[in-house]
Amino acid sequence: MVMAFISDLHGNREAADAVFNDIAERGINQVYHLGDLIGYGPDSVYVANAVFDRGIPGVPGNHEVGILKDTYDTWNDLAANAGRYTRNLLLKDDNIAVTNQLWELVRGPRYRLFEVPMDGDKEPATGLIVHGAPHKGEEVDDYLKSYHLDGRPYGWGWSDELRKAEEICGKEVHALLHGHTHRPLIRTSDLNGSGDFEDPYLYVVNVGSVGQPRDENPRACYTIIHDDGCVEHIRVDYDFRTTMKKIEQLGKTGELMSETAELLSGRLEFGQ
Ligand SMILES: [Fe+2]
Repeated sequence: MVMAFISDLHGNREAADAVFNDIAERGINQVYHLGDLIGYGPDSVYVANAVFDRGIPGVPGNHEVGILKDTYDTWNDLAANAGRYTRNLLLKDDNIAVTNQLWELVRGPRYRLFEVPMDGDKEPATGLIVHGAPHKGEEVDDYLKSYHLDGRPYGWGWSDELRKAEEICGKEVHALLHGHTHRPLIRTSDLNGSGDFEDPYLYVVNVGSVGQPRDENPRACYTIIHDDGCVEHIRVDYDFRTTMKKIEQLGKTGELMSETAELLSGRLEFGQ
């Protein structure tokens, strides 16, 4: 069965709708989310409802945890200012139902297992999704140790990340999928060329960001695992000018600081 993975939607209604349409057109019924449904964008309530109404299972991101628990003040100014706007939105009486569902997400598991389809007659393997990096504890806002934020290899080998994933779930893990940096990346034992692995389908994948890509490509990004276990990033055009205008409007009304609105709007055009 083909499955889709969406992450870092960040209240971007137009990007979320475009990605859900693309997933539906491909006939994909199994979808997981990797957190950060809310924050930054103007339509956090709409996007969270769109995910919850579809019954999509997932894990919380640092924006759900920080905004719901009111700890976003420790973030950088841009994220904290946007977090304040989103928290005010969620505290409105009309939004109690979705806020309660977000609390359930925040109190829920930090990782989830799924079955990775394998080519031919092979038994499905185990995959694991997290927001930022695998942890036994409650941590949601740190990064994999094996690469710089721009995707360059660093420190740990990426296979160590798989071992860490195995430690937290007590099973052999073939696929570790994560989000958080908003930069799509696929690392496999094939591409790695280390020759350390018997199975060529081991991989660590950054699934990219639906609502705020930062790889200098403004199109919404999500990830598919095909029937044979192969991984693919999908890019989807969406009307980011409409999203930008909504953010700019929040700056004009004072709901967002004008400088914050300008930065959040401008980055969508360039995928930064
Ligand atoms: Fe994010």
